[in-house]
Amino acid sequence: MPRVLGIETSCDETSAAVVSGTLEAMTLDSCVILSQDVHRLFGGVVPEIASRQHLIGIVPAVDAALSEAGVSASALDAIAVTHAPGLVGALLVGTSYAKGLGFAHGVPVVPVHHLEGHLFATRLEHAEAEPPFTALLVSGGHTLLLDVPAWGQYRLLGRTRDDAVGEAFDKVAKLLGLPYPGGRPIEQLAATAERPAYGTPYWFARPMLRKAATPGDADYFECSFSGLKTAVLHAVRHAEQRGTLDADRAMIARGFQDTVIDTLVAKVERAVRLHRRTRVVLGGGVACNRALQTALAARLAPRGITCFAPTPRLATDNAAMIAAAGLFRFVAGERGDPAFSAHAARPLPGMFEA
Ligand code: KG4
Ligand code: ZN
Repeated sequence: MPRVLGIETSCDETSAAVVSGTLEAMTLDSCVILSQDVHRLFGGVVPEIASRQHLIGIVPAVDAALSEAGVSASALDAIAVTHAPGLVGALLVGTSYAKGLGFAHGVPVVPVHHLEGHLFATRLEHAEAEPPFTALLVSGGHTLLLDVPAWGQYRLLGRTRDDAVGEAFDKVAKLLGLPYPGGRPIEQLAATAERPAYGTPYWFARPMLRKAATPGDADYFECSFSGLKTAVLHAVRHAEQRGTLDADRAMIARGFQDTVIDTLVAKVERAVRLHRRTRVVLGGGVACNRALQTALAARLAPRGITCFAPTPRLATDNAAMIAAAGLFRFVAGERGDPAFSAHAARPLPGMFEA
């Protein structure tokens, strides 16, 4: 039974984890996540600081993950490391360390695409989150709607034309004076307000949701969130001018979140219907959003479709999901060329256009 160490340093979490077993029965033996809180001071991730923090955290994180799992580096079957996409300086810390550790202990290193990791996160907690399924990957950097007939085969249905969903949450949080990262604060604030009614000031137009759209149209699955962000900006300015921002902040948050959720739920429903799937898998930091999970389940459960979402710990960036995806790639026979490098942007391996 292979034992795989995962290493994740693509953004602002320094993480190491050990996963063992088979693709059908994976066990999470340890997971250490060092979150770089320093970026809160700047309202966003500062790449140079992220790299330096990874340098400080990588050795203790890996040591702790190995000792918690009760395994020595030389007893590992593989080391899986995120090599793309992400901040290049941050990725380089993880990939260089993984290569050094692998070379020192004679352990093969498997490069893993960060988004494939997010797809595997749910699988670690739900054995039934197995292909075929519809996947919605919603993080700070990505918004992808995929049809997944099998692991390693990712049919791209749609993506965002501009801002990622998490990015929209973070920017709107900033406009509302909420802390970074903004997803959770917006969700908490939105939960205290009623759903704005259609036609009222804080009901925002649902982007890219033409009723007449058909599967061949680009906007059938694609999303766009930058116009919504601008609409929120105008709403905030207007409230400021009238001196009602403090009273209206929760309703603006609710109006924004409802708009995002309605759009995502509609797109997922279209994907499920077109490909006749019975399972939906959520991944990425925005998958933590309970209102999104509840809305999806409410829309799809009556049709016998089950939605799976990872717990917050595994929804946001972590090395357990990288180890899980690495286990899949390792069992499939993949080994990294010793010269493999880190890449800021790179397509998901196995992704194809519909
Ligand atoms: O997957 P992730 O940890 O990092 C990236 O790969 O980007 O996602 C982080 C994103 C942030 O934009 C954060 O605001 C968002 O996930 N997020 C949420 C929630 N928790 C985190 N968005 C909406 N609702 C949440 N509860
Ligand atoms: Zn991520």
